[in-house]
Parts: sequence; C-alpha cells; structure tokens
Amino acid sequence: GTGGDPPVRRVSDWDGERLRGLADAHETPLYVQDLDRVRENCERLLGAFPDADVRYAVKAHTGQAVLEAVRDAGLDAECASAGEVDRALAAGFDGSRLHYTAVNPPARDLDYVVGVAAADPDLTVTVGAVDTLDRLAERGYDGRVCVRVNPGVGAGHHEKVTTGGAAKFGIPYDRAATAARDAAERFDVVGVHAHAGSGIDPDQLDSHRELVARMGELARDLTDPDGEGVAPLDLEYVDVGGGFGVPYREDAPALDLPAVADATREAVAPLPEGVDLAVEPGRYVVADAGVLLTQVNTVKPTPDETVVGVDAGMTDLLRPSMYDAYHPIRNLGGAEGEPSAGEREATPVTVAGPICETGDTLGRDRALAAPARGDLLAVGVAGAYGYEMASQYNSRPRPAEVAIDDGTATTTRRRETLGDLTTVEREAARQGAER
Ligand code: LLP
Repeated sequence: GTGGDPPVRRVSDWDGERLRGLADAHETPLYVQDLDRVRENCERLLGAFPDADVRYAVKAHTGQAVLEAVRDAGLDAECASAGEVDRALAAGFDGSRLHYTAVNPPARDLDYVVGVAAADPDLTVTVGAVDTLDRLAERGYDGRVCVRVNPGVGAGHHEKVTTGGAAKFGIPYDRAATAARDAAERFDVVGVHAHAGSGIDPDQLDSHRELVARMGELARDLTDPDGEGVAPLDLEYVDVGGGFGVPYREDAPALDLPAVADATREAVAPLPEGVDLAVEPGRYVVADAGVLLTQVNTVKPTPDETVVGVDAGMTDLLRPSMYDAYHPIRNLGGAEGEPSAGEREATPVTVAGPICETGDTLGRDRALAAPARGDLLAVGVAGAYGYEMASQYNSRPRPAEVAIDDGTATTTRRRETLGDLTTVEREAARQGAER
C-alpha cells in the first residue's frame, strides 16, 4: 500500500451543534447525508483505482442528489433494478455509464431496460443465468452483455450478504467460459463479473484476492487468441464487484484502500491487452457520509440495564435487526435542564425503537453519556443501506432526509405523512369504484 489507513469519518467527527440545529429545524427521525463527504469518497476511490472503471452500486443510496454528485465525480452507475436504472437516468447517467445487473429479473424490469437500451445501446446488461440471456433475446435484445460468474468464493460482514459462492448469483465458474462463448453468438459480450459480497473487512482480503485471481484467469482464457477451435472474445473489462468495507466500530481500523487496490491489480494480472479492471462499490461511497438523528423519549431503568427509547427503529434503520450490525451511537445531549453530554457519566444502555418487536434495537450494551429524555442521538455510518431499507411497518411514515452540499442543508426526502401510508389503498378503492 501507499498511503496507510485513509481518513475515516467517525460519528464523533460530525459537528454536534450543526446536527442539533438540523434536528430542531426538520424534527426526528432525520437522515443527514453529506454530499461533500460523498465526493471525497469518490475521489479516494478514483485515486486508488486510477486505471479502473469505478461504478457506484446505486442500491446503497439511491437519492437523486447523491447520484448527481457521484455522476459529477466521474463514476459510472451499477443498477440492480428497473427502478435504479430509472433513477440513474434521471440523474443524468447516459447508457455508456449504466450497468444493469439482472438477478432473476422480473419481466417488467427486462421490458423496461430493453426499451432503454433501444434508445441508448451503450447500456450494458450483466447476466447471471442462461435463462436471462434467452429472455433478453426473446425481447429482441442483441446488445452489450456482461457475464456474471459465481466465483465459488465469497466474503462479507454477514452470511446474508456473502454473495460469491451463493448459487443464486452468477453462472458457476466452470461453466462460465462456455456460457460466455455461447452468449457471444447472440450478444456483444463485453465483460465478465463477480461480486464477493458486502462489507469486506481487512481480514477477508485473501478471499477477495482469490476471487480476483480467478476472474483474471477467466478473462485470459476468453480472450486467448490461440484457444483451440474457439474465437477469442473482445472483452472490455473484468468487473470484480464491490464490497469494500467501512469501519462501523469506533476503534475498528479502516480498510487500506490503496493497498486493496494494489492487491487487486496484482491478483488480476496480467490483464489481456485492452481489458480494464472494473469495481462497483456502494457502501464505501456513502456509508460514512450519513447519520441518522433520533430523539430520546423514554429512559427506563430495569434491574439488568437501562433501556433508552428513541423515535427511530428498525423501520428506519434495519441493519442492526437484520444483520446484528453495529452502528456507533453518540449522545449529542440537548435535554432541557441537563448538563451537556460531555459532562455526563458513561452509562451502559440498550437503545430501542418504537416497533413492536424485540429485535427493534439500534444498539445493545452501549456506553452512552447518560441519556435523558429529550436528548438527540446520532447513529453513525448510516449513509449506506439506511433509508434504502426503510419500511412503513407498524404504519410508520418514513423519515425525512436532508443533504448537506457545500455546507448548505436542503431537504432531499420529505417526511412521509400518515396520509402517505394509505395512498395506494385509497387509489385502489377509487379505481375499483370507477370500474
Ligand atoms: N455489486 C453487486 C452485484 C452487489 O450485489 C452489491 C451489493 C454491490 C456491488 C455493492 O456492495 P457494497 O460495495 O455496497 O458492499 N443491505 C446490506 C448490503 C447488501 C449488499 C448487496 N449487494 C447491508 O446493509 O449490509
């Protein structure tokens, strides 16, 4: 590596006064996404991978302002659905910068994407099953295709997000070359792809390297001009996926991105002439650019612990319930008549939301500056897969989001209202009455 650990934005680095001001102005729960930090993260990626195609995995944060910042920074967009393609188009990505990854794609999504490609044939469809190729051909598509491979090896912060090796994703490695050559008879096969998983930490780099090495080998095989009886493919890139982890725990080391980039280049080498490396990080771009602000409404001492009740829950940030994910939590204080958070004693607490499930916690056994009713808590590293995985469960409107751009905050997602919760029902009833 070159630069050692790159700087990380910790929850302690955010300006507490500023966050309190935003919570006062916009109420809680409130997502805050700092576009200036998003841009920094894009620069760090482009700096570490100067010769690679860097594609932002849109699913991590689909907000229009984020997508525009990422587009301006020069990244491409990797989209997991018609909805994400639609958002990326709206944010100004043109086909040459759009990569649609089809995973058991619904017919509606294929119809939509084939329609987009008819107008803008530079779009690429990444395909992980021969059935998907057939379904594209049935729709008259003969454009750019990237073959997704199950590399047989994976990594990630939780088994639920360890993609590589999971049979659901990609064509098995030992069938991939044949599938790619067959596909080239009907489509323009421009790349091969594999994704290890999400949240690759420093201690999982060996698996990542192994995946990358296998993909390099596949690319060399497919482009081999001396292959027996098979024509070489004109590949443009080897996409080794995303998954670069970010530190969630306050004391966790950051992934040394320049070192990961070096190791990736080394493992994939030698790349055939004209074939580029591609990566598609999501989390790395947006995670530490976001916090979730939530207010304490209940402080309940129990024999075992103190439960701190807040107005955000698993509906707003699902990761702790779904993956046992750790998000750092900071007490910004603000309760009337209480000393500033910095002057209070650290107390072990469980931070729990308003949902009727035991799993509805944002953090367990945390040492927080003794929370009081009215305090504001900042849940850190919430910019990736935060709002994106929010739901209306328990009939809870989704929170608002503000984006900070060059220091100025603007509302990017308005808070949902109780009326929003029943919109689709009322519309269905109206349509039923008309029929
Ligand atoms: N490329 C593909 C094909 C993917 O499936 C994903 C993530 C990425 C790129 C980006 O991975 P990233 O760089 O963000 O780790 N909801 C989970 C994460 C699911 C990731 C799914 N695929 C979480 O909150 O941890």
